[in-house]
Amino acid sequence: EAVIFKFTNAVCESYNKSWIVIHNCRLYAISRNKIVFNFNGTMLHPCSHIFIDGQLFKRANGYKPWLFKATLDGCRFIKKSYNPIAILIFNLFKEFTNINHTCPYVGPQIIEGFYLRPEKLGLVLPSGEYLLALTWLFEKRKQFITNLYFSFTEDL
Ligand SMILES: *[C@@H]1O[C@H](CO)[C@@H](O)[C@H](O)[C@H]1NC(C)=O
Ligand SMILES: *[C@@H]1O[C@H](CO)[C@@H](O)[C@H](O)[C@H]1NC(C)=O
Ligand SMILES: *[C@@H]1O[C@H](CO)[C@@H](O)[C@H](O)[C@H]1NC(C)=O
Repeated sequence: EAVIFKFTNAVCESYNKSWIVIHNCRLYAISRNKIVFNFNGTMLHPCSHIFIDGQLFKRANGYKPWLFKATLDGCRFIKKSYNPIAILIFNLFKEFTNINHTCPYVGPQIIEGFYLRPEKLGLVLPSGEYLLALTWLFEKRKQFITNLYFSFTEDL
């Protein structure tokens, strides 16, 4: 394979366990270069106002902001996808999750068996270590974070 695109770490944290409980947020190695991410969270109350602050970092003496920082209106996006970077990211994992439905969200939020595929990304990143940091806001307040670390390597 010409490119290795894989998860290297996953960190999630709930800031309000009366709204979202995270049962599982973990990577599993299927093989050396196929690392799957599983997420299992329960939303204890319905929410129809979900914003996501997303930022990409690239490692160079610590993780430095790289390429984009943006806020997405989750309920608007899921009705009609509108942000090109969010579309790119959603396309990587939509088949592994139950979140593709319109708002409100309540109950189990599952991602299972999600692994990174360069052919789905459809573009080449500079080789390196990256962090996609997502902060999830319900009703304008920070409720949880999902930080996904990955590497992209052109295997020459
Ligand atoms: C935490 O979640 C509850 C719902 O269970 C909500 O009423 C409350 O406003 C939330 N607190 C914060 C700081 O967002
Ligand atoms: C998610 O976690 C809950 C609580 O531990 C569990 O009951 C449920 O079966 C899990 N769902 C999946 C798909 O793993
Ligand atoms: C969700 O799934 C439907 C049906 O597969 C699809 O038409 C829609 O574009 C998807 N939504 C997003 C945001 O990709």
